[in-house]
Amino acid sequence: MRVLGIETSCDDTGVAVYDTAGGLLAHAVYTQDQVHAEYGGVVPELASRDHIRKLLPLVGSVLLQARTRKEQLDGVAYTAGPGLAGALLVGACAARAMAFAWRVPAAAIHHLEAHLAAPLLEEDPPAYPYLALIASGGHTQLVAVAAFGDYELLGESLDDAAGEAFDKTAKLLGLPYPGGPALAALAEKGRADAFSLPRPMLDRPGLDFSFSGLKTHARNTLHAQKDENPSVRADLACAFQEAVVDTLTRKCRRALRQTGLHRLVVTGGVGANRRLREVLAAMVKKENAAVYYPRGEFCTDNGAMVAYAGCQRLLAGAKDGLAVAVRPRWPLENLEKPTD
Ligand code: KG4
Ligand code: ZN
Repeated sequence: MRVLGIETSCDDTGVAVYDTAGGLLAHAVYTQDQVHAEYGGVVPELASRDHIRKLLPLVGSVLLQARTRKEQLDGVAYTAGPGLAGALLVGACAARAMAFAWRVPAAAIHHLEAHLAAPLLEEDPPAYPYLALIASGGHTQLVAVAAFGDYELLGESLDDAAGEAFDKTAKLLGLPYPGGPALAALAEKGRADAFSLPRPMLDRPGLDFSFSGLKTHARNTLHAQKDENPSVRADLACAFQEAVVDTLTRKCRRALRQTGLHRLVVTGGVGANRRLREVLAAMVKKENAAVYYPRGEFCTDNGAMVAYAGCQRLLAGAKDGLAVAVRPRWPLENLEKPTD
């Protein structure tokens, strides 16, 4: 089965072709970072307009790269939610129209299911069942994955997502958008012990997270500096990163112990963080577990994970109707299991 995948849930236009026999045939992501940079965050209306401009040319070039004619496609998969309503609608309308014109089924994909499937595109994919940490700009969730489509939410952030906390703290430190990678780079130059930031919710049982207090703490610490010397921002970036990484790692360890699972999958933009990968590697070694990641470019939003999830859903017989419907809010627990 060969499927075209389309991702437009936020500020990345992602397109890919995945084939169950040949693997990933081609993929491309156009990122709107420059469009939003001057506003310091994603402007939904600008995101929708840019998806409109970029999506169809990207589909054309990815099909060409994949040496795939439209007659060779067995379906079109698109992200139907959660995400920005206007941005989602661009992908949904285009995907539905193409599927209709090419007389193939379309599959509406849950963005987090796609992130959960991203490590399965790699050469040494994890076997089911596994524990997954989704840490992106919009979500921080711990999920027990029994099989494709079979998810149990174990815990999530009660306020800001980890990536959102990175982005907001980066802005506070005067770093350019998107803040996560910029803060991580600055943190490399800082000292971890110069400031100590709290580890939210670690003293409480359970697997939920809270990151908004951390960001406030970082702000208060910065404002309390009377004579700011140049290393303060790097030290604070480092202390912030350590606090997030430590919190995520300890909750992952708690979840591994609680579920008895031995495989941990980390996905979403924050999964690209080098320090997080280093600390998680040491933790899983001690726990006799293994950790799996998508390659860096598939940690953040992309079409490949959508095409892959689309193949799985379409193979199980998924078919959505002709109406174009998106679900900006769509809890993972409400996702239907695929049937075959
Ligand atoms: O998964 P993603 O592309 O988009 C959402 O679905 O939200 O994740 C983007 C998020 C942003 O908040 C970005 O700052 C963060 O992931 N991010 C990072 C790094 N790379 C991306 N955060 C920390 N360290 C990184 N290296
Ligand atoms: Zn995402």
